[in-house]
Amino acid sequence: MPESILQHPDDALRLYAERHSSPEPPELYETVRAAHIHLINGRMCSGHLQGRLLTMLTRMACPRHVLELGTFAGYSALCIAEGLSDGATLTTVEHNDELEDFILSRFAASPYADRIRLLIGDALALMRGMEDASCDMIFIDADKRQYPAYYEECMRLLRRGGFILADNTLWDGHVTDAAYDRDPQTRGIRAFNDLVAADPRVEKVMLPLRDGLTIIRKI
Ligand SMILES: C[S@@+](CC[C@H](N)C(=O)[O-])C[C@H]1O[C@@H](n2cnc3c(N)ncnc32)[C@H](O)[C@@H]1O
Repeated sequence: MPESILQHPDDALRLYAERHSSPEPPELYETVRAAHIHLINGRMCSGHLQGRLLTMLTRMACPRHVLELGTFAGYSALCIAEGLSDGATLTTVEHNDELEDFILSRFAASPYADRIRLLIGDALALMRGMEDASCDMIFIDADKRQYPAYYEECMRLLRRGGFILADNTLWDGHVTDAAYDRDPQTRGIRAFNDLVAADPRVEKVMLPLRDGLTIIRKI
């Protein structure tokens, strides 16, 4: 985006941070473009900075198996897959079956398709069919109202020392805005944040990156 059309001062800082981070790989740039053209709410893609962070955290954690809740256009899945070492895998879950062809075409256009398995269905229902301690890392990014329920399932699925990354934990600032006290998605995110903050089974840090990203480690 040319700087002359920047609308908000935060955009200048975001662009500055992007320019001082590793570049966004071309297939991810194309994924965002295609999402904006063909899907509703293309802005739900993690985007350049959070995407590079997901790749970096995946490399640092060296997980053997990662679970993602909420695939959308496949952007974050591709970032996580990029950070996986040889033989490691990602299962990503999306309940909107109309996205399946789009997602699979984006995976096919990447060098990481063979590391990713896409499941179409409800995240919570599919998690309930998965084995205890079968994941080393879980990225939560599906239905905001279900975050507290996801959390309990994640704690069952996660090995000790494993990580949960939870997106949208600041929820556009609504978490501290009384005007959203009755909004079900805001209530879900707040309940999740309170649950994590009070849980002695985990270490946690909430990063004010983009829409809020909380990193949680199971002790
Ligand atoms: C914010 S988008 C995911 C963005 C993607 N993780 C990224 O960062 O590029 C959330 C996705 O979760 C999906 N979703 C919502 N409720 C779900 C559910 N109950 N089970 C599985 N997926 C769900 C939505 O259809 C949507 O595609």
